[in-house]
Parts: sequence; structure tokens; C-alpha cells
Amino acid sequence: MRTVDLIEKKRDGHEMTAEEIQYLIREYNAGRIPDYQMSAWAMAVFFRGMSIRETADLTLAMANSGDVMDLGPIHGIKVDKHSTGGVGDKTTLVLGPLVAAAGVPVAKMSGRGLGHTGGTIDKLESIKGFAVERTRQDFILQVNECGLAVISQSGNITPADKKLYALRDVTATVNSIPLIASSVMSKKIASGADAIVLDVKTGSGAFMKSLDEAVKLAQAMVNIGTQVGRETIALISEMDQPLGFAVGNALEVREAIETLQGGGPEDLKLLCLALGAYMLVLGKKASGLQEAKDRLQELLVNGLALEKFSEFISAQGGDASVAQNPDLLPSAGRQIEISAGASGYVTAINAEDIGLAAMMLGAGRETKDSAIDLSVGIVLRKKLGDPVVMGEALAVLHTNSIRNEAGNHDKKHSEIERKVQKAFQISPHPAQFRPLIHAVVTKDGIKEWKDF
Ligand code: URA
Repeated sequence: MRTVDLIEKKRDGHEMTAEEIQYLIREYNAGRIPDYQMSAWAMAVFFRGMSIRETADLTLAMANSGDVMDLGPIHGIKVDKHSTGGVGDKTTLVLGPLVAAAGVPVAKMSGRGLGHTGGTIDKLESIKGFAVERTRQDFILQVNECGLAVISQSGNITPADKKLYALRDVTATVNSIPLIASSVMSKKIASGADAIVLDVKTGSGAFMKSLDEAVKLAQAMVNIGTQVGRETIALISEMDQPLGFAVGNALEVREAIETLQGGGPEDLKLLCLALGAYMLVLGKKASGLQEAKDRLQELLVNGLALEKFSEFISAQGGDASVAQNPDLLPSAGRQIEISAGASGYVTAINAEDIGLAAMMLGAGRETKDSAIDLSVGIVLRKKLGDPVVMGEALAVLHTNSIRNEAGNHDKKHSEIERKVQKAFQISPHPAQFRPLIHAVVTKDGIKEWKDF
């Protein structure tokens, strides 16, 4: 096989065979196909797309390019959940213990945050002593004993995806539905889940800004799951404002604990119950969505979800007393209120800008190697639709920045404060908003979301 012939084939819009795709991924991963040829192929895919079968073959080729987790020794149906990334998205921290308390084993590999979105692993590291690395044996043992383990993605999971994603990043080929879908699903498949629940975000803080694009991505990922025999469903959810109120690692853990205690923000709770209900149904721990949701609600009220959270934190060496006393989490030195410049209603909150402002405070990474401050972040005081009076707080920055001798914040800090204030749009009249969950995509098609 000659790589140039495969590039030409895709350039001219033809369908590649499974063998051709396997060759391309194997040889690229081994360093025998140079970046310039792979870039040309990725650009051909960008313009020509891939069939459902080709996308599934690409996913499998990347999933098999490195270590593949065998979760066979874990009892029960392992259901993984994946979010395409958002601002303030702490659903894994709530869902993991919640569905584990309902009997679904959760063996999760998670990532660190980059740019305006946070990562579950960083959030968990704000709990004193919590260890994110485990041997495979300990990982499996913990899931069998506690029902839940969350570890950092191992170095050799889907190396071909890692290499191709980095190449796409610098060749303007990230934004291709088959390439994104295969990239995400290859990691899920290599992580060994039997079934997958996806949360595909759309809106100002999401990777997929339009609803139409989010639906297409969800369909592509559900098709892959179906082709490779892993039942997959996707919810399309709104990221037109941060999820919940807290953005930043320890702040988000605190909000997740409040939710596990039976309180927490309504939007976070609603999304967790919807995603969790599907996890229970796919994991065969409930026969229908309503039964699943009722069960999960009960676990939030009766304290068993919180108890599971404590058990999980202890199992990974962390200080489980945070579950009862979130004040033990790291906290920033100062809080600065960002106040409204006008009275009216909050009609827009630019989630990406809030995420970027949190990153600039130190909660997130600008580049892969940036250090982060687990204690800092932003807590919203107002959400979409809320009435606001001029001078009232829109948000509170939790910061460790130092005032200079003249008592002023440094330049960067003023820029952050301005960014947060500008992220809020205040209008004299209330506006209509899109629902938190738009639709559910399954192998049988797309259905508009109806709460149950
Ligand atoms: N996230 C991934 O893991 N891969 C992509 O291609 C895009 C987003």
C-alpha cells in the first residue's frame, strides 16, 4: 500500500477499506508515515468526510493503537459517561458516586483541564491526599469493592489519537465531525466501557457552538458505538452559561458535595439525574428512565450517594472528611465581587469568557504544562433570567492575586474583572432561553428532550 494513493482516494471522495485505514493509523503511529502526509489525509477527510463504517474503522484502529483496558474482571455492566467539555461541568463528581450507589460499576479514566474547560482529575486533586494514579490491579479491585474509581488517563491509551489530535491542532483539521467523533470514541473504547452515555454540549462555552453541529457529532458518536457493539446514547445539553454556579477546581468540588448532600444548583442536578438515569438503564439496574430517576433522587436524599463519595475518596487515599466539611478544601485568599453596571435581567452569560477568566486567575491551563491553583475560580451570583439591580454582585472572584503597593490589582487582574463583567449581558426586559437539555440521540434516531 502507498500512502499517497490513500490520500488521493480520500481527496477524490472515495470510501477507504478497513485495511487501508488500519495501515494508515498503524504506520503513522509507528512513525513510518510523516506528518506532512497525514496532514494531507486529515485535510482530505475534513473536506470529504467519512462514511459511518469508515469512521468506526478509524475509531477501532486508534483504540487498538496502544493499551486497551480489559475491564472483564469487574462484575456487572460498566457504563462510562463522557462530556465534550464545558465550563463548571462537575457532573462526573456527582454522577460517579450517585450511579455507583445505585449499583452501576464506574471505572473511569479522566483527563486534566486545558483552556477554558476544567478537568475532573484536577478537581479531584483539590481533595487532600487524593491519588489519581493506580495500577490496573488496584483500579479493578477498587471498582469491585467500592463500585467507583477515577484515575488519570494512562500514557499509552490511544497513542495514535494523541499524535493525530496534536497534528490536527496545528493543521486546521480539528473541526471535522468524523475526526472528533473517532478521537473521543477511541478513548472510550480503549478504556473498556461496555456502554457509554455522552453529554454533547452546545452553546457559547462548548466545542460545538451550534445545536446542528452538536447533533451531528452526537449522531456520529452513537453510530460508532452501535457499529462496534457498545451501546451508546447521547444527550445534547446547553452550555450557554456555566453549569451550576462554581467554576474552578476546589469550588466545583464543594458544589458537587452540596449536590450529593441533596442540595446544589437546579441545572446541575437536573443534568445529573438525566445522565444518571440513562446510565442505570444501560447498566440494567433499572427497567425504565422514570424508575431510574426516582431511585437516584432517593439516593441523594437518603445520604447514600454522599456516603459512596466518602468511600471513594478514602479508597483513593483522600481526606474523606471533606464530604461532611467542605471548608477543608483549599480556599483562595481574597474574594472580589463583580457588580452589575445596570439594572434589568441577565439575558446572556458568555460561558467561554467565564472559563477563560477562571483560567487567567489560575484555575486552568493556558498550555499543557501550565501550573494551576486549585483554590481559585469564579462563583456566579446570577444566572440567565435572573433580575439584577445596578451595583448588585453578578459573580465573585476567588483569587490569590496580591495588591501592589498602591493598593491596586495588577493589570492582568483588572483585565479578568472586566472580562467577567462583560460576560454578563443585562437587558431591561427578560428573554426566552433554550432548555438545558435539547434532545437525546440513540441508535433509533433523535428525539426532542422531554423531562420525565
Ligand atoms: N476532544 C477530543 O478528544 N478529540 C477531538 O478531536 C476533539 C475534542
